[in-house]
Amino acid sequence: MTIRKAVIPAAGLGTRFLPATKSTPKEMLPVVDKPAIQYVVEEAVAAGLEDVLMITGRSKRTLADHFDSVPELESALEAKGDEKRLAEVRHSSDLANVHFVRQGQPKGLGHAVLCARHHVGDEPFAVLLGDDLIDERDPILPTMIELQQRTGGSVVALLEVDPEQVHLYGCAAVEPLEGDEDQVRITGLVEKPDPADAPSNLAVIGRYVLNPAVFAVLDETAPGRGGEIQLTDALATLADMPAEQGGGVYGVVFRGRRYDTGDRLDYLKAVVRIASDRPDLGPDLRAWLTEYVKTLP
Ligand code: UTP
Repeated sequence: MTIRKAVIPAAGLGTRFLPATKSTPKEMLPVVDKPAIQYVVEEAVAAGLEDVLMITGRSKRTLADHFDSVPELESALEAKGDEKRLAEVRHSSDLANVHFVRQGQPKGLGHAVLCARHHVGDEPFAVLLGDDLIDERDPILPTMIELQQRTGGSVVALLEVDPEQVHLYGCAAVEPLEGDEDQVRITGLVEKPDPADAPSNLAVIGRYVLNPAVFAVLDETAPGRGGEIQLTDALATLADMPAEQGGGVYGVVFRGRRYDTGDRLDYLKAVVRIASDRPDLGPDLRAWLTEYVKTLP
């Protein structure tokens, strides 16, 4: 079955970025001049997924407003003849069919995905974390969709990390898949393991293409690490299930540019790198950065 729907969880508390995220979701923090989540929606649309469901929390309004039209702003720009900004303002509301569902309490990423059950129904779908930014020049979703269609199971994106960093992620035990060294079969998953217990240095990052069997599994998944319902735990169950029941989990190793915009340092790197590459801001920023670096101790 082809994949048409993208689910974007954006209901986390964002504690690592307080106080900026006290009343603003971290997904709305600007990366240069667009909120992080707009890059994520653009990535979904570029992969052919135009039906987008956002899982929102207590500050849903700013997210919903961003993807809606703003007639008074549009008329003001029209009156000024500012065609460029008018097009940018309209772009975010015309981008995709964006729907919202509320996660009453932030009970974990697995619980957030379960909130999409009714909207998604019985078809495979993608999950893109709203604070995980993948550079548009290094797309991974098309390869993941292709692997899901070929295997019928579920697919996660994997990143090789420093073994000391593995405790920050879900970690995968893998075996090779024939034909492509960057594609693997997942035999086990652990959420945020101690380095000594980590089965590899392959960390799960925020892109998934899931068989809808995940919903029934999530429904039965008890709260895990941190008292949260973990998507990683449900994927570990799916990895042990037979293909006829929607089981089987695969991984695609990502080797491109990616930023966790919920982490302050990674967020700063995203802003500097993306702005440096932009034709409008890049030349001036790079010149300034070169001078600035010379002043550093
Ligand atoms: P994180 O693990 O980054 O957690 O969530 P967080 O609570 O948002 O951030 P910190 O650690 O407190 O700073 C990963 C993704 O899952 C979503 C988040 O919005 C983020 O996109 N999420 C997490 C939910 O939608 N609901 C939840 O209950 C938890």
